[in-house]
Amino acid sequence: MNIEEKIIKLKNEKNAIILAHNYQIVPIQDLADFRGDSLQLSIQAKKSQAPLIVFCGVRFMAETAAILNPEAKVILPVEDAGCPLADMINVEQLREFKALHPEAKVVCYINSSAAVKAESDVCCTSANAVQIINSFPEDETILFVPDKNLGSWVAKKSGRKVIVWDGYCPVHQWGFTRRAYEHLKNLYPDYKMIAHPECDEDIIEVADEVLSTSGMERYVKEHDRLIIATDSSFTDYMQHLYPQKKLISLNTRAFCNNMRKTNLKNLLNALEKEETIVEVPPETSEKALSALNKMLELSN
Ligand code: 13P
Ligand code: SF4
Repeated sequence: MNIEEKIIKLKNEKNAIILAHNYQIVPIQDLADFRGDSLQLSIQAKKSQAPLIVFCGVRFMAETAAILNPEAKVILPVEDAGCPLADMINVEQLREFKALHPEAKVVCYINSSAAVKAESDVCCTSANAVQIINSFPEDETILFVPDKNLGSWVAKKSGRKVIVWDGYCPVHQWGFTRRAYEHLKNLYPDYKMIAHPECDEDIIEVADEVLSTSGMERYVKEHDRLIIATDSSFTDYMQHLYPQKKLISLNTRAFCNNMRKTNLKNLLNALEKEETIVEVPPETSEKALSALNKMLELSN
């Protein structure tokens, strides 16, 4: 039996499901029961009946699954698969930020800790951020944490007053430059560029579309020649699904180290040992659930 077969056998024996984010390596996405962006995976986690959810992604995603589905045991195959963006604000910093703007509402990107979610009015993902911001009355001031690039982009799209926290994703902030874009655009003038909203505004300004990873996948289905500005594992997987398309990663070396930590070997080990269990203290979980449920209601 090869390793993929062992994983599937064990998964079936344990009645588990495997969720994988769009930035996971090709073999992991290939054998997952569901793959998708943060919003799609949250919805799958919430509605899953399986007693065991194996989350191939990063900690905040597994934490979100544990909050949305407290009946299930949620495991993260690599204990230290974190998200540097989520770590850019902690709950004390958020409380100080709120104290400076007591009249404002707080929208937190799902890339945040459970404790930060618990202190927020509503969560959002890159797929529904504009919709969530637009759900507030027009004159409401909104504090957006922790991603300044997503926050600035939604402020522009919605015309709302948004005060952004100064956090960023190192992969998207530094991985893609206007110079690299201009170089590729000179070589391939008929290619369109799609970018993730975590990219710096230098890239956002010249992108043909700004999309979450699920939005990017829809765009890939409809276009044949694209430059893609997000984690290069996403482009690898799209190329694997659509080998006839001409897809170029704006930077093949820009990928999330934390997402790449999960591989078939540690996934099998995680399933065997049912490790690492991700749990959220009940009080935090209850409050964070309210911010997550509000997001899910608004994105219907
Ligand atoms: P998506 O929800 O668009 O998949 O993005 C998640 C993420 O972590 C991007 O860096
Ligand atoms: Fe976090 Fe960036 Fe990795 Fe996404 S790509 S999980 S935002 S570090």
